[in-house]
Amino acid sequence: MSPMSVPKSSAVVLRAHRTDLTQRPSSLLQVAPVELPPLNEGQVRVENTFQQIIAATGDLMLEQPRLPIPPFRIGEPIFGPAIGRVVESRAADRPVGTTVLHMSGWREHSTLGAAETFPVPDGAFPGPEYLLNQGVPAYHGIVDIAVVGTDDTVLVSGAAGGVGSMAAQIAKARGAARVIGIAGGADKCRFLVEEVGLDAAIDYKSENLDDRLTELAPDGISVFFDTVGGAQFEAAIRHAAPGARFALCGVLAGQIGGGDGGFPRLDIMTALVNEIQIRPFSTRHTPEQVQAWNSHYASWHAEGRITFAHTVLKGPLERAITAQDELFAGVHRGNLIVKLTGSST
Ligand SMILES: NC(=O)c1ccc[n+]([C@@H]2O[C@H](COP(=O)([O-])OP(=O)(O)OC[C@H]3O[C@@H](n4cnc5c(N)ncnc54)[C@H](OP(=O)(O)O)[C@@H]3O)[C@@H](O)[C@H]2O)c1
Repeated sequence: MSPMSVPKSSAVVLRAHRTDLTQRPSSLLQVAPVELPPLNEGQVRVENTFQQIIAATGDLMLEQPRLPIPPFRIGEPIFGPAIGRVVESRAADRPVGTTVLHMSGWREHSTLGAAETFPVPDGAFPGPEYLLNQGVPAYHGIVDIAVVGTDDTVLVSGAAGGVGSMAAQIAKARGAARVIGIAGGADKCRFLVEEVGLDAAIDYKSENLDDRLTELAPDGISVFFDTVGGAQFEAAIRHAAPGARFALCGVLAGQIGGGDGGFPRLDIMTALVNEIQIRPFSTRHTPEQVQAWNSHYASWHAEGRITFAHTVLKGPLERAITAQDELFAGVHRGNLIVKLTGSST
């Protein structure tokens, strides 16, 4: 595609901030036409092919999201992880045709500095979308924060989600004695045991957490990787073994749907008697954190020690907006990705 023939393009734009956590993202986002500026030296134009859908997008729709990332602005395109192909280049190290991963997704075409793009290696995975995973925070939480080892009984909440499915598998790959996932629904629990390889799964929607944890971890859990908060955090405290490490990653029960998951009641006496170490963490995606995950991902995948649990939906940009609603509703399993097909203009 020559610089003169780049077509009119589209982007997903924030119409208004999220003021009520029960609002569906689709009520605040819309696809709008955008102008594509001429490239400056060192820039590339990327035609996006895969858009990753993550929970943090909902946080960034708030006026003051409290994340270590700038929030979305009203009337401007939103952003997030995507993969595409360079279709125009003024950077010698990113020639036309290069497949790249970048953070300026949610648009048909992204215009960005070559240094903000990461070439996707050929052949390391079945498809480039395998790079749209949440392994970096999962690895950081399991390895650096919880320091999972072979003696551990690990409990992971949100285990059928993007971060949780990776965290549970990383714990297995580190040789944890037992990994138990919590997810919503019998299908997701079956998926976690039969396809993702967890030792057991608890359906928090239909099963009693205390009964199941007593049954599955009679000596208590030694690690809790929590993406949910709320009642699941409280149950994990009740079933923690002495010296248990809690890696607090997210509060889906509060971020999605407006529950009070971010404010669980902490039984301090139980926590102090058992000397539970509660460690919230916020992954900065430092080069060291990214490298630590990347140094394992391809080899563990090739050896069959982890799978990339994911769902790929297909459609134009509008499909990414409805997919964000579906992520919140828990409709899909694993990482959620939209394969962008055709133009939405
Ligand atoms: N600390 C860090 O550095 C860091 C970095 C990245 C992400 N995160 C956090 O990690 C968490 C997971 O992110 P993700 O993008 O991978 O999202 P995700 O887990 O794929 O989120 C979607 C899932 O959330 C679950 N869910 C929805 N409402 C829920 C509720 N009320 N209670 C419990 N579960 C609910 C649903 O699973 P079920 O059907 O099983 O309920 C749904 O499938 C988020 O909290 C995110 O902010 C933290």
